[in-house]
Amino acid sequence: MFAGRGHHHSPPMKRAEFGACENALFVFDCDTGVPEGYPWQLADIRKVRRAEEIDAVAVDSLLSEWFDWTPSLGRLDSIRRAIMKRELLVAEVNSLVIGFIHYVMHEDVIDGGLNSFITAFYVSPAHRGKGVGTRLLEESIEDSLSMGAVGVETSTIFASAKKLYEKHHFKETLGDIGEVFLELDLPEYLHAKKKENA
Ligand SMILES: CC(C)(COP(=O)(O)OP(=O)(O)OC[C@H]1O[C@@H](n2cnc3c(N)ncnc32)[C@H](O)[C@@H]1OP(=O)(O)O)[C@@H](O)C(=O)NCCC(=O)NCCS
Repeated sequence: MFAGRGHHHSPPMKRAEFGACENALFVFDCDTGVPEGYPWQLADIRKVRRAEEIDAVAVDSLLSEWFDWTPSLGRLDSIRRAIMKRELLVAEVNSLVIGFIHYVMHEDVIDGGLNSFITAFYVSPAHRGKGVGTRLLEESIEDSLSMGAVGVETSTIFASAKKLYEKHHFKETLGDIGEVFLELDLPEYLHAKKKENA
């Protein structure tokens, strides 16, 4: 129905006074991606698919929407590498990328096989609560299993995400065998090493 609408994965330019977005081809609704003048019943064509190179900028802008800070070197190169490794899925509504999930496959010598670790999972606020996150999560699990994963893991600080994971059979392991999740404070580590070597 929207065939040929082409390349509007890049972050839309907001025209605050009209509440509309536009790209090189046409003006469209910022939230749904429906072109101006299209009837609303044509809206909401949802899709989850593997990210392609053209999606990198859209994923980057979703990450900027999620976090109010940006790494000094930006995120685009990292996103492009994740896309090359086929470890990123995106969700579209009417061809606009509105969410993504990133997971890495790694060898787990304790489990004796590949494990998938979900590192980042996000749906733009206007599109939440409509099953998009569920589809991203389910597809990422299916993809991991089809690549031979014997385990799927993640960690989160968000209570709503924890609820969603638990609904999809993730179990909290913290406490079971006394393990805790630890993240290296890299600036502190580098500072300490520098002092050691001075
Ligand atoms: C976690 C997240 C990806 C889920 O995406 P989503 O598209 O809202 O997911 P779903 O619609 O499939 O399900 C969300 C659940 O929250 C409920 N919900 C309802 N309204 C909601 C809203 N406005 N926002 C979030 N969740 C809502 C849904 O009903 C659903 O619960 P249910 O399955 O029991 O009905 C999204 O909320 C998000 O991006 N959160 C911020 C980042 C984050 O926490 N990431 C995960 C950890 S890294």
